[in-house]
Amino acid sequence: MTVNAWLLRPAAKPLLFVLLLLPLAWLVWGAVAGTLGANPAEALIRSTGDWTLRLLCLTLLVTPLRSFTGWHALARLRRMIGLYTFFYGVLHFLCFAWLDQGFDVAAILRDIAKRPFILVGSLALLLMLPLAATSFNRAIKALGAARWQALHRLVYASALLGVLHFFWMRSGKNDYAEVAVYAAVIAVLLGWRLQRWWRGRQTSPRGRSAPTR
Ligand code: HEM
Repeated sequence: MTVNAWLLRPAAKPLLFVLLLLPLAWLVWGAVAGTLGANPAEALIRSTGDWTLRLLCLTLLVTPLRSFTGWHALARLRRMIGLYTFFYGVLHFLCFAWLDQGFDVAAILRDIAKRPFILVGSLALLLMLPLAATSFNRAIKALGAARWQALHRLVYASALLGVLHFFWMRSGKNDYAEVAVYAAVIAVLLGWRLQRWWRGRQTSPRGRSAPTR
């Protein structure tokens, strides 16, 4: 059975749904079993942040992977990966708002204003909001494909802000190893799109082709 045929099987989506829930299940289990280390709140905030960034990279990987491998059926899984990215981003925010700030709105706003890396993270999450809100078929129809695609280019800005957020946080500790890996992955994925867009401009008669998601 080819990869495309496998991806088109009805089981593919439910399987991905369960797979992407596993990090959360692992964290909940860790919190209940007390295996999250000396500072469980910090572990929860950091792990959910890590998963948001990993899934953001995975969302951006779908189109290049389709192009290189011919696994075009991957497209039907992209929306779920994108929505899970937003879900982990919201969890990350909620862990911070609850475990760090006790859901004190004034304290949350003060911290956002005081620590620029949190402001940048908040912007990254805010940019995901319209993407999540328009990820349903009715919204795609209402917006029209071109406008919907243009709106969904916000995912690039969100990815760049996500890495900047991580970089800024780690700069306080002079620890850039992990940040460099994410930055390199995102640079390659965005670079691939830019060169595709540029090539499209060169070859299209009106020079107006746009990058795809
Ligand atoms: C797309 C949105 C976001 C992404 C991709 C993201 C990603 C990350 C990552 C990768 C980390 C570091 C994890 C580690 O050290 O292993 C982190 C830490 C953190 N983020 Fe975010 N984040 C986002 C949004 C937010 C938002 C909205 C807030 C709060 C308003 C926030 C607050 C924090 C805090 C408090 C930490 C931990 C800092 C520390 O432990 O010193 N992030 N985030």
